[in-house]
Amino acid sequence: MGTVRVLFLFLSLYALLLMDASTAQIPGFVSLDCGGNENFTDDLGLTWSPDNQMRSGEIASISVANETRKQYQTLRYFPADNKKYCYTLNVITRTRYLIRASFLYADFDNNNVYPKFDISFGPTHWATMVISDANTIEVQELIFLATEPTISICLSNATTGQPFISTLELRQFNGSIYFNQFENQFFLSVSARINFGADSDAPVRYPDDPFDRIWQSDSLRKANYLVDIAPGTEKISTNMPIDVGSNERPPQKVMQTAVVGRNGSLTYRLNLDGFPGFGWAFTYFAEIEDLDPSDTRKFRLVLPGDPDLSKAIVNIQENAQGKYRLYEPGYFNISLPFVLNFRFGKTSDSTVGPLLNAMEINKYLRKSEGSADGPLLAAIAAAYSSAEWAQEGGDPCLPTPWSWVQCSSDPQPRITSIKLSGQNLTGVIPVEFTKLGGLVELWLDNNSLSGSIPDFSGCPNLRNIHLEDNRLTGELPSSLADMSNLRELYIQNNMLSGEVPSGFLNKDMVFNYTGNTNLHKGSNGGNHKKIIIGTSIGAAVLLIATITSCILLPKGRKYPRKKAPQKFASSLSNAATEAAHYFTLSEIEDATKNFERKVGSGGFGVVYYGRLKDGKEIAVKILTNNSFQGKREFSNEVSLLSRIHHRNLVQFLGYCQEDGKSILVYEFMHNGTLKEHLYGPLTLGRGLNWIKRLEIAEDAARGIEYLHTGCVPSIIHRDLKTSNILLDKNTRAKVSDFGLSKLAVDGASHVSSIVRGTVGYLDPEYYISQQLTDKSDVYSFGVILLELISGQEAISNENFGANCRNIVQWAKLHIESGDIQGIIDPALHEYDIQSMWKIAEKALMCVQPHGNMRPSISEVIKEIQDALVIEKGAGTVREGSSDEISRHSVHSSLNMGSLDLGASEHYLSIDDSIARPTAR
Ligand SMILES: *[C@@H]1O[C@H](CO)[C@@H](O)[C@H](O)[C@H]1NC(C)=O
Ligand SMILES: *[C@@H]1O[C@H](CO)[C@@H](O)[C@H](O)[C@H]1NC(C)=O
Ligand SMILES: *[C@@H]1O[C@H](CO)[C@@H](O)[C@H](O)[C@H]1NC(C)=O
Ligand SMILES: *[C@@H]1O[C@H](CO)[C@@H](O)[C@H](O)[C@H]1NC(C)=O
Ligand SMILES: *[C@@H]1O[C@H](CO)[C@@H](O)[C@H](O)[C@H]1NC(C)=O
Ligand SMILES: *[C@@H]1O[C@H](CO)[C@@H](O)[C@H](O)[C@H]1NC(C)=O
Ligand SMILES: *[C@@H]1O[C@H](CO)[C@@H](O)[C@H](O)[C@H]1NC(C)=O
Repeated sequence: MGTVRVLFLFLSLYALLLMDASTAQIPGFVSLDCGGNENFTDDLGLTWSPDNQMRSGEIASISVANETRKQYQTLRYFPADNKKYCYTLNVITRTRYLIRASFLYADFDNNNVYPKFDISFGPTHWATMVISDANTIEVQELIFLATEPTISICLSNATTGQPFISTLELRQFNGSIYFNQFENQFFLSVSARINFGADSDAPVRYPDDPFDRIWQSDSLRKANYLVDIAPGTEKISTNMPIDVGSNERPPQKVMQTAVVGRNGSLTYRLNLDGFPGFGWAFTYFAEIEDLDPSDTRKFRLVLPGDPDLSKAIVNIQENAQGKYRLYEPGYFNISLPFVLNFRFGKTSDSTVGPLLNAMEINKYLRKSEGSADGPLLAAIAAAYSSAEWAQEGGDPCLPTPWSWVQCSSDPQPRITSIKLSGQNLTGVIPVEFTKLGGLVELWLDNNSLSGSIPDFSGCPNLRNIHLEDNRLTGELPSSLADMSNLRELYIQNNMLSGEVPSGFLNKDMVFNYTGNTNLHKGSNGGNHKKIIIGTSIGAAVLLIATITSCILLPKGRKYPRKKAPQKFASSLSNAATEAAHYFTLSEIEDATKNFERKVGSGGFGVVYYGRLKDGKEIAVKILTNNSFQGKREFSNEVSLLSRIHHRNLVQFLGYCQEDGKSILVYEFMHNGTLKEHLYGPLTLGRGLNWIKRLEIAEDAARGIEYLHTGCVPSIIHRDLKTSNILLDKNTRAKVSDFGLSKLAVDGASHVSSIVRGTVGYLDPEYYISQQLTDKSDVYSFGVILLELISGQEAISNENFGANCRNIVQWAKLHIESGDIQGIIDPALHEYDIQSMWKIAEKALMCVQPHGNMRPSISEVIKEIQDALVIEKGAGTVREGSSDEISRHSVHSSLNMGSLDLGASEHYLSIDDSIARPTAR
């Protein structure tokens, strides 16, 4: 937690130096003209700004034949050394972006060498740029989900020439076309984005594409790109509007052109940069030809060597439910070769050949985790934010280390050496230095550091410490003497005082402490200088030992799990008598006027309204006596409830067990259950708006988070559903009914027990394995989110179309196909589509089949909060506007199950991180 906050602080300080996005007139766009010197707007309407906040490198003006765009008249280049040079850009976390870097070479350094160098995205190697031509613009694009408030793009590792860059463009996305379940571990590296049947060589981009993606013309015959075109391939186009729906689907202009295989086939060969590998591949179809009513157009994708893929048949008009509408089948994860030969072939009963409008292929690029010490180094740099050395940007170790650090070679490197000699450092020694567990050498000499020497026992590998020539005061900490690997300690010329701990004098090490007038050797005083030099052989052996132990250090940080207090577990049996308040039956009969007013019936009994003598309103739940589970549930619930207090959990007031009755008493919740509000009679005229639903979701999630993380051992609810979420006077939500809750055994990741829960909300993994984890609650919560979006019950025999009874299946088809409108509750009128997307996507993550792929409830809360921020921002803008969000489904998602290319359950093995190709 602490380091996260420190990192955040660092980032906000650092923001002073960030490239300023404020010149961008188009929201979410940043266009940097590297080496430029003024702001300008180009012919497309994009506003460019110079990268003059980049302190490193040189700028050059170039002139390349036929390239008249201003942003390509300049570039910035960097020394060919072993440093990295980074651009840092502001982003909004948990939002998707496209980042595009472009490189147009001219002989800027009069060296006549084509450069070859690397570019990286934070710690991740993005691409190796190999320039082989002075007239071609090399472009690299990545699609990413921002996880931090800034990103860094760095240039490094020139093997020939000097690294340079012409432009850097950031484009913010709006919806979910690029949503995929791998995006926490992978970027999408853009490999091909092709507009088939284009009417010129010019690409389609902004303003036709509001997100400024570049759709390459298929007539632009790059070498080895789109060759092997089948005879009979013909371009067609239309001026008719195409219904492409909302968010990031291909723009209309792209969909208005296509190729048709008049002889029954469309055949292409593509060179896919970066492949072989696993990729995201989608095709876009719209019927734009006037077919005779008797004609049919049906075809299959044929990939040599992958016969399974050829089973699905595309019938655009049927799949898209009409002409001039988009249909977009594809794969979220497919293994593709470097040279991709693909063919669309008509089926034997089809009268016309296949048609293709556009295609997108992106490669999954695994994210690097970065240095394990990243946040600590970020905090150190933040403490000296105006110093040159503190601004190198990117990860401290990857792909190349900052100039003043050295790193281990682990996949997640640790800092082994820090050299900040003579850097005018002032103030006390930042405490972060003492937390670098892999540190071997520390050079802070010849600065103006003051204060005392901190405890370095958090750096057990430290071998050399240089603190000489500073203004350090206080005593020498005795912990230094206990550091078994310490071989050299230089503290001369400071203002240290006290006695040298005797431990130092017996150690086999170099120790120089001259020039500290008040530091004494001990009671016998005298000699102010002691140098002990071990034998060179001994030192060398120790040195090797240190390095080895450093490499063998465990990767990643492991925190010991808290042990459950034994006492608590054993006290469970008699817990009922412990803390809960006991009501007598007559008290309860008085309060409920002899069970006069029934307010509900839960899984275990009937609930009555009551009012205590002091006026407090209560809900009295009488457990069904003959329920064989009832008694066990009862004592379970009593012992649990008496311990749990949170403002988003229904408060338990006490219990009663008399006269054969088992009774639980809760606070009374005036507004009933969420279920009643979504589906019951209350909905008439009282429907919850989207903001309210988000607030309810946040409340409930907080209650669950408390159960999962605030209780030791943690508690799994096991029966979350809309009828267990109650609303108070102010329609704030609380989670109720812990009847199925069971203490999770701490230290074990699951609790095996009889499967219980409610159909429609039940985690399928739990159902199969009977292994209960907190992720089972996350599953149920995902179902609740889907109900909040759609106003549909979890299970329905009618509402989800043929063959589908389950909200999860139904919503998944729609959301993954980009058709969110198709599931939004018709009762909702005012909402921001982006907040809707955020919740829909998170809900889908929650209902992943495997628990380990679901987010934690805390992550879900963050997303809900983001959505609330969007809504509250949008609310003011939207005020007074009419129902502007039209509800039309873009294409037939319900048909997709049977028609989609990816509908076949086709498993591909990828790395450990999963991978099932799906289609949308
Ligand atoms: C570009 O525009 C921004 C904001 O409008 C301004 O702060 C900056 O000084 C301008 N830069 C130049 C070089 O004109
Ligand atoms: C520049 O454009 C002219 C005319 O469009 C063309 O003939 C020439 O080949 C182009 N040169 C380059 C280097 O692209
Ligand atoms: C630098 O580039 C060379 C050649 O492309 C490559 O082999 C090497 O791994 C790169 N070094 C780093 C640190 O990325
Ligand atoms: C983003 O989404 C909103 C709401 O659907 C829409 O009004 C806006 O135009 C979109 N932005 C872009 C750049 O398409
Ligand atoms: C394509 O079809 C046309 C007319 O239908 C025919 O003349 C031509 O030979 C065909 N070409 C091939 C390669 O089949
Ligand atoms: C330290 O400060 C002095 C005087 O202000 C300055 O001349 C010197 O360049 C500074 N050194 C560094 C490394 O910043
Ligand atoms: C100890 O430090 C003093 C002052 O910097 C220096 O003169 C002396 O040479 C050092 N001794 C050794 C053995 O390094």
